[in-house]
Amino acid sequence: MYLSIFLPWLLCIPLFVHSSPHEPTGLLISCGSETKQTVPDTGVTYIPDDGFTLVGNKTALETKDKLLPILTTLRYFPDTAARKYCYTFQAIKGSKYLVRTVYYYGGFDGGKEPPVFDQIIGGTKWSVVNTTEDYANGLSSYYEIIFVAGIKTLSVCLARNNHTVSSPFISAIEVISLDDSMYNSTDFGAHALVTVARSRFGNEDIISFPEDPYYRLWQPFEDDNEGVVSSQPSLSTSDFWNKPPPEAFATGVTSSTGKKLDVKWPPVSLPSTRYHISLYFRDNRAPKTTSTWRVFSVAVNGETFYNNLNVTTDGVSVYAAEWPLSGQTLISLTPDAKSSIGPLINAGEIYQIMPLGGHTLMQDAMAMEEISRSFDNPPSDWTGDPCLPHENSWTGVMCSNEKTPRVTSL
Ligand SMILES: *[C@@H]1O[C@H](CO)[C@@H](O)[C@H](O)[C@H]1NC(C)=O
Ligand SMILES: *[C@@H]1O[C@H](CO)[C@@H](O)[C@H](O)[C@H]1NC(C)=O
Ligand SMILES: *[C@@H]1O[C@H](CO)[C@@H](O)[C@H](O)[C@H]1NC(C)=O
Ligand SMILES: *[C@@H]1O[C@H](CO)[C@@H](O)[C@H](O)[C@H]1NC(C)=O
Ligand SMILES: *[C@@H]1O[C@H](CO)[C@@H](O)[C@H](O)[C@H]1NC(C)=O
Repeated sequence: MYLSIFLPWLLCIPLFVHSSPHEPTGLLISCGSETKQTVPDTGVTYIPDDGFTLVGNKTALETKDKLLPILTTLRYFPDTAARKYCYTFQAIKGSKYLVRTVYYYGGFDGGKEPPVFDQIIGGTKWSVVNTTEDYANGLSSYYEIIFVAGIKTLSVCLARNNHTVSSPFISAIEVISLDDSMYNSTDFGAHALVTVARSRFGNEDIISFPEDPYYRLWQPFEDDNEGVVSSQPSLSTSDFWNKPPPEAFATGVTSSTGKKLDVKWPPVSLPSTRYHISLYFRDNRAPKTTSTWRVFSVAVNGETFYNNLNVTTDGVSVYAAEWPLSGQTLISLTPDAKSSIGPLINAGEIYQIMPLGGHTLMQDAMAMEEISRSFDNPPSDWTGDPCLPHENSWTGVMCSNEKTPRVTSL
């Protein structure tokens, strides 16, 4: 996913003054920065990354453009021998976090194209980082994962892969606390959720902090459906398990009276695997004038997702904990035969369900950290999980091949 690199995107976000918290709960880190950086308007503050990593080099982009402050600096990792480059954060075991990594190459090393490399969370390879297309389009890139800490630290690492030709780099990392009820149909002991799309319909503006206190980004999604509706902003969403911001219900797309509504969303072709899907709906009509109900059925790629959903002005969310998707996705909303009004949709989220790779046996990991601390100069990749992922284990450390590996020799 991508964002504009320039300042104005945040300035377009309407500012609501009512009882918004001033900062999201969590850590917002601007990599390679020497000072705190405050995002204009929202006042969200990012701190330097010094306390969270011991490796890499800092640099600032030389550019005439008025870049978003957090994109003006980055940390890069020139050491080709290291098997990974890690950031380590204190975490509460069993707590749920939204982790977002942000990348903007900016030609910092004099190159034309950003390097392609891997990112790792805990002992699990999270994804490949390929920002080539976004960068060519003048955009920054971000990746997100929802992850429950299995131990008391949370590590986010970068690593070279066979396609990496120059130094991996990172612009910002955000680690935000989520509530227990959020996305809780997922078994986070065994899985994490990788964000594929989080969209609002019928609107051109992104929703971000402070409208979403969890600093989720709800990207505008536009397609050929021209029927746009908006409703009164007053809606309490605190009872929704996923805590969508009320703003996500403010607009939607609809079809004309009695017609089926087809939405090709998300706008990307998906790899064939299982996904978490949450969809959000709200009747936009004023409650008192309503004598008809907005009832429709929801299908995903022709399969029934939810039958006869009665959407009121209170709003409703329906979800699938695990749903197979592949290629382009089609959401179809078919009005009830008796319904004289068209179906509508306000927002949706899709996450890829990613199996976790586990972590090194706790005693062994703690023993290794102990040994590492006793060295004046431990190898630079002696951070993050000692054994996992296998191809990114600590230099010189041999591990067993079990699900919860043990350190076998040094
Ligand atoms: C990166 O930093 C290290 C340690 O401070 C230094 O020895 C090295 O020369 C730097 N590398 C580059 C490419 O600037
Ligand atoms: C990175 O993305 C670009 C643009 O989509 C693509 O052409 C290239 O093959 C990708 N590189 C790797 C190593 O996957
Ligand atoms: C990367 O290259 C190494 C050595 O050539 C090879 O063993 C490994 O399988 C490759 N990895 C991937 C993911 O292609
Ligand atoms: C998710 O959280 C809600 C609200 O706390 C709770 O009612 C529900 O039982 C939880 N679901 C699961 C699967 O834990
Ligand atoms: C829809 O929900 C409202 C409020 O709960 C209820 O009064 C109404 O009868 C429902 N309509 C249908 C068609 O189920």
